[in-house]
Amino acid sequence: MNHTSQAIAISEHVHWVGAIDWDLRDFHGYATTRGTSYNAYLITAGEVTLVDTVKAPFRDELLARIASVTEPGKIRTIISNHAEMDHSGSLPALIDALKPQRVFASALGVQALRDHFGLKNITPVKDGQAIDIGGGELTFYETRMLHWPDSMFTWYAGDGVLFSNDAFGMHLASVERFTDELPWPLIAEETARYYANILMPLSKLVGRLMERMQALALPIKLVATDHGPIWRQDIAKVFELYARWAAQFKTRKAVVVYDTMWGSTARMARAIADGLREAGVSARLMSMSGSHRSEVATELLEAGALLVGSPTLNRNIFPSLADVMTYLKGLAPRNLIGAAFGSYGWSSQAVGQLTDLLRQMDVEVIDEGVAAVYVPDVEALERCRTLGRRVADRLTERIKR
Ligand code: FEO
Repeated sequence: MNHTSQAIAISEHVHWVGAIDWDLRDFHGYATTRGTSYNAYLITAGEVTLVDTVKAPFRDELLARIASVTEPGKIRTIISNHAEMDHSGSLPALIDALKPQRVFASALGVQALRDHFGLKNITPVKDGQAIDIGGGELTFYETRMLHWPDSMFTWYAGDGVLFSNDAFGMHLASVERFTDELPWPLIAEETARYYANILMPLSKLVGRLMERMQALALPIKLVATDHGPIWRQDIAKVFELYARWAAQFKTRKAVVVYDTMWGSTARMARAIADGLREAGVSARLMSMSGSHRSEVATELLEAGALLVGSPTLNRNIFPSLADVMTYLKGLAPRNLIGAAFGSYGWSSQAVGQLTDLLRQMDVEVIDEGVAAVYVPDVEALERCRTLGRRVADRLTERIKR
């Protein structure tokens, strides 16, 4: 058994037995620049229980880690908190090979596992239901639509471990297994990226979940997520961050997203940023030739304004703007104000099209936008600065309210 196949004890009766995917760079269109992990956990109190599995290509890594603790055939119970294949991909093979006595999932998980793999003998558990695992109990809490209909948490009161599946996770490959073993700025950045790119559209449900967690007041010692390191020291901090993001709290920051053909729309973007800064709002300029859509989403987690710019290309917006706007529309950031801008040659469509897209995203559009012919002159750049100032003033007014 080589070193990388060893399980890691995370509490008296729980081992991490997951897999590290150092090379993953894309997860549903979200740039996972630092890879990820698929976390699975083995509980050895009383009978042996496995919580979640790993993506199918990592099955041998999972089995090797389990074998470093106990004979895999001793697993009597498997819990599937979520049917998405990064957690269930190894489940059919494990059921075949290990023949556990029982496999549990939420009622919708039972259906999803049948739809994905044809699995039939999965036992449904209800919200709040507890099962005996010999040396203690596991209690299940449905977290419907966070982020699939079937998702649930498993609570192991014995060691105070909340197996939170996708929630509170991050796409971060590391040899460290606890968040407190890594620098906080890295943990905060990756937690924010994960929330923005996966959970932002479900913020209302996240808010309700955080209220429920508060009401349950579980004596949590570890939040064992299914992606990235485990929370041990900063549990209150990550819960506060989730509550803040769920409320779509906004700061005096604007994101200016654009692309450019010959530099004209870029000049307009810089003039808008000048106007924002003059009126006291921080601006983040993001050219889509140098930024990824998922970075824009992350910036919008707390930014209160979105300005989008595109030249008109063949009577349309640039493909890179279509990409990012489609992605953002799906993620549904709320409480935004904004406007569009862009240059054109002989036919001006992009600004109107971007303005329509902003409205479809429920952005408060404060201006019909600025269009400049060919290369923006002094007057056009002044209109951009004015637009920046107007957006900044409106954002400041909103935040004061
Ligand atoms: Fe990590 Fe929804 O799967």
